Amino acid sequence: MNIMSQEKLEEAVSGGMTAKPNEVIKMQGRKVGVFYGDKQALFDVDLDVRQNQVTALIGPSGCGKSTFLRCLNRMNDTIDSARVTGKITLDGEDVYDPKIDVVELRARVGMVFQKPNPFPKSIYENVAYGPKIHGLAKNKAELDQIVESSLKKAALWNEAKDRLNEPGTGLSGGQQQRLCIARAIAVSPEVILMDEPCSALDPIATAKVEELIDELKQNYTIVIVTHSMQQAARVSQRTAMFHLGYLVEEGATDKMFTNPDDKRTQDYITGRFG
Ligand SMILES: Nc1ncnc2c1ncn2[C@@H]1O[C@H](COP(=O)(O)OP(=O)(O)OP(=O)(O)O)[C@@H](O)[C@H]1O
Ligand SMILES: [Mg+2]
Repeated sequence: MNIMSQEKLEEAVSGGMTAKPNEVIKMQGRKVGVFYGDKQALFDVDLDVRQNQVTALIGPSGCGKSTFLRCLNRMNDTIDSARVTGKITLDGEDVYDPKIDVVELRARVGMVFQKPNPFPKSIYENVAYGPKIHGLAKNKAELDQIVESSLKKAALWNEAKDRLNEPGTGLSGGQQQRLCIARAIAVSPEVILMDEPCSALDPIATAKVEELIDELKQNYTIVIVTHSMQQAARVSQRTAMFHLGYLVEEGATDKMFTNPDDKRTQDYITGRFG
């Protein structure tokens, strides 16, 4: 969404009075619970995801970060034993409504995984695949344009432009992760979910991806799971702390890292557990 239409939206919402751009709630979870079979992994999570901001999900291993992230684009549907309760909305619309087309939802709410997972196809085809299946390009020229602009937005164009027909798996790990980000961007998502996107990358590639995340928030809403407190502090505006399946607290990243309300957050960010 560009600045103009966002302003118009706010005007419509607030009668031209109040809401700042980044206070628009893009996604909202209310009383979200997740069960794997009989075992409950997530309890009563209430969390707002603000538009054009980066929200970081932190907390010790097994606390439910990935489980919550997967609720947002219904990736938990792909796990047979998983059952989701409560409500999740995108622009106020219930994403678990039976009328929702899940394929379309996952185009609007894209995902980048921990391990770069390019398809065993060329760099070009990796990016072109989504737009092709969603019918976003009328012809080859338009498809070329989408591929180029997606690779540019993912800060990979300069490195990839002379090798578009080479396999995506031939790129370095950091380049592959940016290719996966380009692939997510190519279908014009509104929200991008990233589950530890840098954990397989070296510090230089990590810095590149972090820089990219910072730029991407101008056009997208981002939710990122990370085990790096430095990363959460560097890239996010909001931070949500999870523990044993509960959302402990959520707030402005500055505050969460300097003066959290909950002792568990304090202990976690200072490395006392997790
Ligand atoms: N497919 C699954 N089937 C059964 N249990 C699962 C499944 N995925 C996750 N769980 C359980 O749900 C809980 C939350 O797991 P989740 O993967 O969401 O944690 P996490 O915070 O992402 O952890 P990590 O930081 O290690 O990635 C854990 O107890 C985990 O064992
Ligand atoms: Mg996880």
